Amino acid sequence: MLAMAATAVRADEMSLGDFVLINQFMLQLFIPLSFLGFVYREIKASLANIERLFGILETPATVADRADSPVIRVTPGAISFDRVSFSYRDDQPVLRDISFTVEGGQTVALVGASGAGKSTLVKLLFRFYDPTSGTIQIDSQSIERVTLASLRQSIAIVPQDCVLFNDSLRENIRYGRPSATDAEVELAVNAAHLDQFVSQLHHGLDTTVGERGLKLSGGERQRVAIARAVLKNAPILVFDEATSSLDSHAEQAVLSAFRELAGRHTALVIAHRLSTIVDADKIVVLYDGKVVESGSHEQLLSADGHYAALWQAQLRERA
Ligand SMILES: Nc1ncnc2c1ncn2[C@@H]1O[C@H](COP(=O)(O)OP(=O)(O)OP(=O)(O)O)[C@@H](O)[C@H]1O
Ligand SMILES: [Mg+2]
Repeated sequence: MLAMAATAVRADEMSLGDFVLINQFMLQLFIPLSFLGFVYREIKASLANIERLFGILETPATVADRADSPVIRVTPGAISFDRVSFSYRDDQPVLRDISFTVEGGQTVALVGASGAGKSTLVKLLFRFYDPTSGTIQIDSQSIERVTLASLRQSIAIVPQDCVLFNDSLRENIRYGRPSATDAEVELAVNAAHLDQFVSQLHHGLDTTVGERGLKLSGGERQRVAIARAVLKNAPILVFDEATSSLDSHAEQAVLSAFRELAGRHTALVIAHRLSTIVDADKIVVLYDGKVVESGSHEQLLSADGHYAALWQAQLRERA
């Protein structure tokens, strides 16, 4: 078209203005057309993603509420595991015949080697999976016979690896209870001993934490998780201690934050450093998916078994 217009201009059949006009018309036509191609490609790609998303949403949950399950009533928050066995895959049992109880208001510690099945036990308590056999009861109600929402509402967890969203510290903490006010979030920050850290930040609680919280240290992330648990204020508390070594100052901060919280609740603590749980009401020792010992720190030391060996090993490490 441009060539024809150029020829016409040369032959004096069109003015130079007409040539410019035709050029403009063509631009107006082709730019939107190529944009349409871009939009089409985007829509195609998004549709493919949406399909995958719906695929996930439509996956039936293996753990579901039974018809007319009641809401769980938690007072005082006693937990009992009764001959619980579990395996992720059929050929590999992870937990075998686990039985122990936590009285309401007690602090019970779980210790055992890495891979012994401690975190798995917590997943069962939350009913992310159902045990292969055995029952878990909270205040004499089997957790399979109450609604999932009420069960999960009554347990607060400080997980081994806390998941943070790429948002401000404030919103990440508020995730513990989305209806909490700013003042309540600040109280939780103080209770979790995060106030000193927050006061050093330019933007305070409005600082963003980065993708999955990568701008925070391990100890800071764990204290954010504690602040969440404080906000949630559930009757049962689970603390899965991170293995990543905190320095002793950060460890003390995390521990004292946790102790203050545990004092008022039933608490299940998974501990790697035994020095952190010497004052627990009961210590349950897991080995190879089984409970091998349980009792207080003194009882277990005098029994001279797995726990005593672990304790000696850690004492030597510290020396
Ligand atoms: N989703 C899963 N699918 C299959 N196997 C799993 C899964 N999660 C854990 N396991 C296996 O179950 C065993 C127990 O894992 P678990 O996370 O309970 O250990 P742990 O006692 O918490 O260890 P750590 O002290 O390192 O946190 C491990 O051998 C692990 O490989
Ligand atoms: Mg674990």
